[in-house]
Amino acid sequence: MEWTREQRYRRIEEATIEELTALQEKVNNSRWRQKYHIQPVTGLLNDPNGFSYFNGEYHLFYQWFPLGPVHGLKYWYYTKSSDLVHWQNVGIALQPDDYFDSHGVYSGSAIVHNQTLYFMYTGNTRDENWVRHPYQCLAFMDENGQIKKLQAPVIHEVPKGYTDHFRDPKVWKVHDTFYAVIGAQRENETGCAVLYSSPDLMHWTFEGEIHTRLQHFGFMWECPDYFELDGNGVLIFCPQGVVPAGEQFQYVHQSGYIAGNRLDLKTKIFEHGEFVKLDRGFDFYAPQTTIDHKGRRLLVGWMGLPDIPYPTDQDGWAHCLTLPRELTIQNGKLIQRPVKELEALRQDAVHVKDTLHNEQKRYDGFNGTCYELICEFTNMEAEEVGIEFRSSDEEKTVISYNRHKQKVTLDRTYSGEVPAKKYGTTSTCRVEGNAVKLHLFVDTSSVEIFINDGMEVFTSRIFPSPESTKICFFARNGNVSLDTTIYHLT
Ligand code: FRU
Repeated sequence: MEWTREQRYRRIEEATIEELTALQEKVNNSRWRQKYHIQPVTGLLNDPNGFSYFNGEYHLFYQWFPLGPVHGLKYWYYTKSSDLVHWQNVGIALQPDDYFDSHGVYSGSAIVHNQTLYFMYTGNTRDENWVRHPYQCLAFMDENGQIKKLQAPVIHEVPKGYTDHFRDPKVWKVHDTFYAVIGAQRENETGCAVLYSSPDLMHWTFEGEIHTRLQHFGFMWECPDYFELDGNGVLIFCPQGVVPAGEQFQYVHQSGYIAGNRLDLKTKIFEHGEFVKLDRGFDFYAPQTTIDHKGRRLLVGWMGLPDIPYPTDQDGWAHCLTLPRELTIQNGKLIQRPVKELEALRQDAVHVKDTLHNEQKRYDGFNGTCYELICEFTNMEAEEVGIEFRSSDEEKTVISYNRHKQKVTLDRTYSGEVPAKKYGTTSTCRVEGNAVKLHLFVDTSSVEIFINDGMEVFTSRIFPSPESTKICFFARNGNVSLDTTIYHLT
């Protein structure tokens, strides 16, 4: 079904109770509902927003269009958790009901100041000619959990030299000064990130552009996030429209980072290395990080991509968030590991140690649609090793390591219903060594695979039939030692 602009910009109050109930029922009957991932009650979820730790709890919001699986009028939906594992749906946090956010409460971030949690976000507006005018706005949550907006934007204008693609403020604090990085498009239609500063979150000064080496890298940078980790500066952002190079950048939307010295806040010079993709799977975008009370840098991403139809659309909902990951840095490379708290989901465990001789093998207890699987292949003489999971006679999803090519590949060609087939159904990245560790989190319609303790991650939605539950380990052309444990989850 084609959604008209009127349908996309309908407010939730305009829907009748009957319409909402019917939509809810359709969503509840979807065979692809997740068991332990954050997903929308109805409609479409996209970017994580306002990720923070405040008042003894983790707060996480996301972009939400309630009325269907399309990008329409965006709200902030609110979930919270005391352990990063069990999330409580609180409801709508910010509605697009003011002149400065009338066409969407767009992405933004949170920061604690004076025992209050502040949110800085982009208010998206359109005039009668549908010309966009973005405002940067502020809201706050008091200790009783009440969220209120400031009644005027804190940044009214796009600075000279930039277009109306100007959004997604991420705030942090250095000594007594707040800084915000904002995603922007130059008038020559190249992307960049700009810096603002403020003494109090209310009054902001445009400091200028962050000077990177990436002068012609896509036409817009969405969702920038700057932070420091072990003395390194890291700028995460999502460049749109990077020119494809080989297997890289095939799709319009990318998500990655540049890391290097600390950003010089005076000159705005950021000395950095290559742009590195954060995730090697098919469905990952617009991540946001925060630092928690334990000093950990945590990341959550949107497990989805813009402008692509997904099989759940027919069920009235789309997308979910990734599991929270802890970031560390080794030799300038970000390492991503699932947060330790997720162990709380583990039910029973089955452990197997074996040697595979150029064969495929299945083991008792290794099956399901919702589990964590840790698998180490060592003493690798085989050319290729791997796991087929969510498999049946007709379907399988495959993660494999080829020792000769030094490559890990995720193959979702036979995963069931496959979104965005035209962009390819296999995804690969370079991994070195004669051993490989694969750590999978499988949920009803997704998989997150951490390679070699977070050196690389493959995040993907998969849409197999509920009967595709088998797990099979394999070695091709030689032997390998296998040490694996499965934990059924929830
Ligand atoms: C990224 C993005 C942001 C914007 C939001 C709108 O996915 O386009 O740039 O703020 O989504 O939902």
